[in-house]
Order: sequence, then C-alpha cells, then structure tokens
Amino acid sequence: MAKSGEKALVVMPPTTGGVQDGRKGIDEIITNSSPMAHIVEMVLRIAPSNLSILITGESGVGKQVVAEAIHTSSGRKGAFVDTHCAAFSPTLLEDELFGHEKGAFTGAITSKKGIFEKANGGTLFLDEIGEIDPTVQVKLLKVLEEKKFTPLGSDKEIKSDFRLVSATNRDLKKEVEEGRFREDLYYRINKMNLDIPPLRERKSDIVALASSFLERYSRENKKNIQGFTEETAKILLTYKWPGNIRELQNVIEASTVLADGSFITKDDLPMYLQHLDVSDNIKTEDIPIIHSDERRETIRKEDQDEPTTIINKGYETQSGRYVSIKLGTLKEMERDLIKATLDFYGGNKTQAAIALGVNRKTLANNS
Ligand SMILES: Nc1ncnc2c1ncn2[C@@H]1O[C@H](COP(=O)(O)OP(=O)(O)OP(=O)(O)O)[C@@H](O)[C@H]1O
Ligand SMILES: [Mg+2]
Repeated sequence: MAKSGEKALVVMPPTTGGVQDGRKGIDEIITNSSPMAHIVEMVLRIAPSNLSILITGESGVGKQVVAEAIHTSSGRKGAFVDTHCAAFSPTLLEDELFGHEKGAFTGAITSKKGIFEKANGGTLFLDEIGEIDPTVQVKLLKVLEEKKFTPLGSDKEIKSDFRLVSATNRDLKKEVEEGRFREDLYYRINKMNLDIPPLRERKSDIVALASSFLERYSRENKKNIQGFTEETAKILLTYKWPGNIRELQNVIEASTVLADGSFITKDDLPMYLQHLDVSDNIKTEDIPIIHSDERRETIRKEDQDEPTTIINKGYETQSGRYVSIKLGTLKEMERDLIKATLDFYGGNKTQAAIALGVNRKTLANNS
C-alpha cells in the first residue's frame, strides 16, 4: 500500500508491438517507444525475406527476443536453432556448427548433427558472433556462400537452407577495422542491421516494461500488486540501467517478492536504487504511464486498495492508437469501449464508427 501522502500509480496495460497483427512472438516484444515500435515494424517487414540480419545492442536490450520474433514472423517451417558462440572453444564451436561422423576424432563414439543441419528450413541464430575465432570465421563464410557443408569426418556434402540471424554487443565495424573480424563475413551476415537502443534512451518503455514484469511476477507470487508509487516510478526513470531490460526485470522480480502492500514503494527496491539521486527533471507529468489529465486526476488517490483501471481518453504511439477500459462483463466492456473510442475522437461519431468497424447508426444506438 502506498504510504499516506505518497501518490500511487496504477499499472498501465503494456503496449505491445504486434497486437494489431496477432503474430506469435512479435507480441511478446513490449514497446511503448517510437524506436522500439520502429524495430517491431522492421521485424515484420523483413521477417519473410531471406536477408541475413545482424542485431546489435548492449547486453540485455532484447537481442534474443528480436531474433526469435524474426523467426516466428518469418513463416519458416523449420526450427529456430541458436548457439552462443562465446561459450565454445574454436574446435568445439566448429563441431557444434558442422557436426561429426562417428569416429571422426578420438572420443567421437556417436555421430552428431551440427546446427547448420538442424536449422535447415528454419533460422540459425548465432549469438555473440563477434567472439568467433578467425579460423572458424573463414569456414562459416564458406558455408554461407555455398549453402552446403561437410560434417567432420564425413565425405558427404549436406545442403542446408537456413536464414541467418546474428547478434553482438561489440562494435563489429570497429572489429573489422582492427582486423579481428573478417570484412567479407561482416557484409555477408549484415544484409540488414537492427540496432536496439539501450533502455536509458527509450524512457517511455521503462514503465511499460516494468508494469508488464510486475503483472507477471505479481501473478507468479500470488500477490495483488497494482502498480508503483510515484517515487518508485521516478527512480526507475532516472536510473541509467546499464544491464538494460534484464536488469529491470530482475529489479521488478525482487521488489515484487519483497513488497507487502498494493504498490511497489521505494523501500521495496534494491539499496543501490533507494540511494539514487532522483533527477529533479522528472516531473509527474513526464511519467509516461499517465496519458491524460482525466486519468492523472483519477489515479492520484492515496492509500488506494481497489484496483482502479479507468477509462481514459486514449493515446497514440507510433505503433497504434490505444484506449484502456475496465475489465467487466462483455456488455459493460462494449459500452465502455464505445465511450472510450468516442472520447478518443473528441466525440466524432463517424471516426469512432470507422475505428470500431461498425456503421454510424449502430454506434448511435449503442452509445
Ligand atoms: N521488448 C521486450 N519486451 C519484453 N521483454 C523483453 C524485451 N526486451 C527484452 N526482454 C526481456 O529481457 C531479458 C533480456 O533480453 P534478451 O535476452 O533478449 O537480451 P540480449 O540483448 O540478448 O542480452 P545479452 O546481450 O546479454 O545476450 C529477457 O528476459 C527478455 O525476455
Ligand atoms: Mg542474448
């Protein structure tokens, strides 16, 4: 529960990139910012092609999430096969990629399929590709050019049709300039680059992500936490998040476990965040969770125990237009949805009817 005098914020249903389109995978990418909405749009546009995609960005920004969304939106029937290149020595990585025949080397007591083969008809995701040793880089290049490969100890070439997605948190261009990464391989894996900005550069995602994690961990821990206090929200918005979304996720999970009220308060946060010097620049009206004056007034209740999802006027993001309504019976929600849509369009019945896909007369009869 928010302490007396502290303002309480209600969790906003997170905005997702792909709800409109309904594709699996993409709708797990939560975004409330235009840079991420742009990434989601690009994913949907490039997914059906065979372009090799290089995903770049700091640790924890969501490179894996985007790679999976590319696959699930691609229509490819094969598997999504991923490997963490940094986890293997050059010899073991080669074995992981190419596979081997029984007896290919001492200890090869059975044959093993390589991931080039496992990804046939699907997507091969090479994570941390910047870590690949030059001896393996040249072999990878050959496979990408020829679309076929020979497992270790075999004399048979195997054809494989996979779509390559790679990721790195290194500056690969610099690695090329400094001679650590092959230039020809760089251009082969990077037909298109998706650069995911760090969380501190897309502040409007912070509360949407935090709200989504809160909802998840609150459910998992059988708690009924409805949101963050304003003070908590300001801390979350001030902090620079060097570990990006993974760090935010950990913080919300731990805070949810600790919280014993209806809201995550400052005291529920880890010490290093409690001691953060909160920026004076962040004003209540800058907190992106709040989208309309009407909503702001309603949620500034203290000691709020009841869940208060309210109808708001709606808001617009790069990826779409949104209204939120209170969960109720179908009839109640229908009535509220019509009202919220009408409010969104400033009472313009024609526009609201178009948005709802009904004719103006039906709308008039129901509102
Ligand atoms: N837009 C998003 N919406 C929801 N969850 C996200 C989003 N982006 C990242 N996450 C979550 O944050 C965590 C880190 O994401 P992910 O593993 O994709 O990052 P990464 O860039 O691959 O990190 P690393 O560089 O450390 O490998 C995961 O638990 C993921 O589910
Ligand atoms: Mg990753």
